[in-house]
Amino acid sequence: MSATYSEQAPAKINLFLHITGKRDDGYHLLESLVCFTAVGDVLSGECRDDGAINLTITGPMSASLALEETKNNLVVRAARLLQEESGTSLGADLVLDKRLPVASGIGGGSADAASALRLLCDMWQLDLDQNALSRIALSLGADVPVCLHGRTCLMSGIGEELTDLPELPPVAMLLINPGKAVSTPAIFKAREDEAFSVSGLWDVQREFASGAALADALSECGNDLTLAATSILPEICDVLNALAREEGCLLARMSGSGATCFGIYDTSDQAEKAAIAIAAQHPDWWISPTEIISQQARVLSNIGAS
Ligand code: C5P
Repeated sequence: MSATYSEQAPAKINLFLHITGKRDDGYHLLESLVCFTAVGDVLSGECRDDGAINLTITGPMSASLALEETKNNLVVRAARLLQEESGTSLGADLVLDKRLPVASGIGGGSADAASALRLLCDMWQLDLDQNALSRIALSLGADVPVCLHGRTCLMSGIGEELTDLPELPPVAMLLINPGKAVSTPAIFKAREDEAFSVSGLWDVQREFASGAALADALSECGNDLTLAATSILPEICDVLNALAREEGCLLARMSGSGATCFGIYDTSDQAEKAAIAIAAQHPDWWISPTEIISQQARVLSNIGAS
C-alpha cells in the first residue's frame, strides 16, 4: 500500500486590504496584511504510477462544487501544471475535504491549489526552485502565492510580492459567511469609481502581543472592497453587525472580496459564545470560531495529520 500524504489548506484572512492602483491588464495593485487560521480544507493523496490525476471532493462544503467539472478544479490544474513543469510521469489520487465555503473571500480555492503544490512536491519528491513554484502559483490565481507562502505577511503587487512580518499571537477569531458566494471580478468592477488608498501605511517591523493591540492597529486601515461588496450583497452588513454586537468583539471586518467576515475577540471563550449566540439567530450561516495560526503551528499539525 502506498503512503498517504496530507496537507492543510488554512483559510486566508485579509486583516486589511487596500487597493492602491490598477494595472493596464485590469488587475488591481493592492496592499494587504494576510494571516492564516486553524480552520481550513484538508487535501490528502496517494501516488500513482500512470500519471493520472483523480480528485474526489468530500466534506461539508463539497456540494457547492458538485456542478463544477473536476478537471477545472484548481487542485487538478495545479497538479497538471506541476507535471508539465517537472516532467514527472507520476500521478495522484487526491481527496479534498472541503470545509470552507466556496467563493467566500478566505482563499478556499487558492488555499487548495497551494496545498496541492506543497503536497505533490513532497509526494513526487520534486526539487523545483521557489521561483518556478511561485510562477505556477501566480498563474493559478493572484491569491495562490500567498497561500503557498502560508505565513503572516504583507502582500502587495497583485498578490505576488510578499514581505514576511513577525508572526502574530494565536488571536481568537470568529469567521462568518452568510451562505452566498460572491464573484471577485464583479466586486472589483463595482468599486471602479472609488479612489485608491495610499501605500506604505503598515509598519512591517511592528509586533503584537495581543488581539487587542492588533485590533487597535488595524482600526487605522480597512478593506477597500467592503462598500462594493455590501452594495452587491447587503447581508454582509448583517454579518458585520452580528459580529460587532457580541461581547468581546474588538474588530469586525470583511476578508478579501467577501462575503466572509471575521471578528477579532478578546478571548476564545468569547468567540465561541458569540458563535453559539449568532448561530441560534442565523442557522443558515457558516460560523466558525478559530484562531490565527503561525507557520510553525501549521507545520506541526501537518506532521500530526500524516
Ligand atoms: O487571479 P484571480 O483569478 O483570483 O482573480 C480573479 C479576478 O479578481 C480577476 O479576474 C480580477 O478581476 C480581480 N482581481 C484584481 N486584482 C487583483 C486580484 C484579483 O482585479 N489583484
